[in-house]
Amino acid sequence: MIDKKVRPILEMNAFDKQCPQSDSVARRIANSGASSVLFYRDPIEMVSAEGAWMTDIKGIRYLDFYNNVPCIGHSHPAVLEAVSKQIGTLNTNTRYIVPIVDEYLEALKSTFPEALNLTNIVLTCSGSEANDLAMRLACKHTQGTGFIVTESAYHGNTAFVTQVSPSALKNTKLPDHVIAIPPPAKKYYGEEVGQGFANQVKAAIDQLNQRGIKVAALLLDSVFSSDGVFTEPYGLLNKAIEVVHQAGGLYIADEVQPGFARTGTAFWGFQNHHVSPDIVTLGKPMGNGFPMAGVVTKSEYLDAFCADVGYFNTFGGNPVAAAAGLAVLKEIQVNNLQENARVLGDYLKQQLQAIAEVSPHISEVRGSGLFIGIDVCDSSSAQKPDAEFTVKMIDRLRDENILIGAAGPDGSTLKLRPTLCLTKEEADYFIQAFAKVLGL
Ligand SMILES: Cc1ncc(COP(=O)(O)O)c(C=O)c1O
Repeated sequence: MIDKKVRPILEMNAFDKQCPQSDSVARRIANSGASSVLFYRDPIEMVSAEGAWMTDIKGIRYLDFYNNVPCIGHSHPAVLEAVSKQIGTLNTNTRYIVPIVDEYLEALKSTFPEALNLTNIVLTCSGSEANDLAMRLACKHTQGTGFIVTESAYHGNTAFVTQVSPSALKNTKLPDHVIAIPPPAKKYYGEEVGQGFANQVKAAIDQLNQRGIKVAALLLDSVFSSDGVFTEPYGLLNKAIEVVHQAGGLYIADEVQPGFARTGTAFWGFQNHHVSPDIVTLGKPMGNGFPMAGVVTKSEYLDAFCADVGYFNTFGGNPVAAAAGLAVLKEIQVNNLQENARVLGDYLKQQLQAIAEVSPHISEVRGSGLFIGIDVCDSSSAQKPDAEFTVKMIDRLRDENILIGAAGPDGSTLKLRPTLCLTKEEADYFIQAFAKVLGL
């Protein structure tokens, strides 16, 4: 268990407001104030995007390896058509019957194994809202208030969810009802990762109990993205989930990052670990840029919650959202984008591992499908993470027309999340640029 300072996720590769500002940057900061977070020392003004590429005001095109929202490709014509048609026909809240909404809910449900009995879906507009509701469902069902998360987790921005997002907290300590533990990775637990992680969950439950708090849920991003991307070995979550269930808590799978086929080997990240979540939360790529998210749950949890509190979401799951969501699901299926993620993800990983063998700056490459983490280290030792050099690489890759971000407790893991429609040529473009910025 830890109460360790982790690098806030929003500070990674962020524009430093003390630096000289162009007119457009100053304008943004004047408008959004302290909450404005811009990427890069010299922020980019974007004007358009298509497929895997974004174009800035100077006409420079960037290969987008950062944004996992436009999963089927930027400005996708199928989403454009579906959204335009529906918004020109009917858009309203969910208190009327509009068949496209149920068509979407049924299509989404069919992506979950029936045995999980996740029969109800609440659609929201953001992953934060989804996690907020999931946590409230867990508290109601278990009569507990304790949460266990990983040390650099990010689960969203509401007051409740910020409390379980260590990487969002700059100066505040975690509240008593939240315990953060290292993510399930060999570097923290050695060879017996699954057992080590389960032991930490057990210790966290005991610590909560000592504070007079009962555990409500173990809340895990299925790929531990902000912790630095840990996807393998598959099957390592089983023991920890057993432990939390024995203590009467639930397991919430946060699929906001890995969901919708990104890991290549499964549609949902938790499926790689052969586990059965009690509640699943979704978001980011769900509407390919149209704000959509959701909570997938067993009806008993929702029944008990709604008997106590009214839940209504004006925009969540409106007909236009349903049209966007359907277009995304169809595109993933028709174009077999899960398989594309698997094949190109394996290819990228293999090429990057070959680079890691010859570059003293890369200590490890890992991940699944098109969700890859690359650990950057000091050239003197693979054991010394190098956040400063990571930022240099992000800047140099930008000069090579590639957008990429960082993650991990100290910001020394490069995080790759290109569109699922990536081509082999685009993967090669990335590999060549990556080798070049390492001086290879
Ligand atoms: C794992 C995870 N969960 C939840 C969220 C919150 O989603 P949103 O920004 O849509 O509120 C994020 C956002 O980055 C996330 O990475």
